[in-house]
Amino acid sequence: MTEKKAIIFDLDGVIVDTATFHFYAWRNLARKLGIDFNEKDNEQLKGVSRVESLKKILEWGNKSIPDDEFEQLMEEKNREYLSYVDQMQPEDILPDVMPTLEFLKVNKVRMAIGSASKNTKRILNNVGLLDLFDAIVDGIKVTKAKPDPEVFLTGANNLNVDPKECLVFEDSIAGVTAANAGGFLSVGIGDAETLHHAHHCFSDFNEIGNDFFTKAGFQFTKSKN
Ligand code: BG6
Ligand code: MG
Repeated sequence: MTEKKAIIFDLDGVIVDTATFHFYAWRNLARKLGIDFNEKDNEQLKGVSRVESLKKILEWGNKSIPDDEFEQLMEEKNREYLSYVDQMQPEDILPDVMPTLEFLKVNKVRMAIGSASKNTKRILNNVGLLDLFDAIVDGIKVTKAKPDPEVFLTGANNLNVDPKECLVFEDSIAGVTAANAGGFLSVGIGDAETLHHAHHCFSDFNEIGNDFFTKAGFQFTKSKN
C-alpha cells in the first residue's frame, strides 16, 4: 500500500452542514418557477457548481429562460443561501470533525479543502477554519466542475503530493466520482447506498476511528490528542 500523506476535504456536507442550506435555497427558487424536486433529486445537485445546478433544475422543469434571467436567478439563490451562511459560527462545524482535524494536524498530515463553492472562504471564515488548511481550492480557482477531478488534482498539487498518497472526503455522488477519476482513495460521508462507488463510506465522522487512517496508509507518531 502507498504511504498516505495528505487529505483533501470537500466543504459543504463534510465539514459543515451547508448542503441543507443549498437545498432550501434551490427548492424555494424552483418552487417560484413551478418546478418541484425532492431530497433524492437533490443528491444530483450536491458537489455540482451553481451554474450546473440551475441548468439541471430548469431541465427537470422543462424550462428554458433568457441568459439575463438565468444570471438573476443564480444571484437570487445565492442571496438566500448567504443569509443562512452568515449566521454560521464555529459551533456549526459538523459533530466530531474538529477532533479529527486536530488529530491529523498534530500528526502533520497535510490538509486541503477541495470545494466547488465560490463561497468557500466566507464559510471557513465564519466557522473559524480559514487558517487550518494548508491549501484551499474553491469554485473561484477551478474551471471544470465535479465530477471532473480538477479541483482535487489542483489540491494534491498545492499540497505537493501524488493523488495516490492522498485521501478525499466527499458527501456527493459527483465528488466521489471526481476523486476516483483523479486516482485518490475516496471516503464517502453519508449514505452508503448513495455513495456506493466510494472506496470507504462512513455515515459521519463519529464512525471514523484513528485505526481507519492507519489502515489506509498513514503513519502517525502521536496518539489521539
Ligand atoms: C458545492 C455544493 O460544494 O458547491 C453545491 O455541494 C453547490 O451544492 C456548489 O452548488 C457551488 O456553491 P456556491 O456556494 O458557489 O453556490
Ligand atoms: Mg459536498
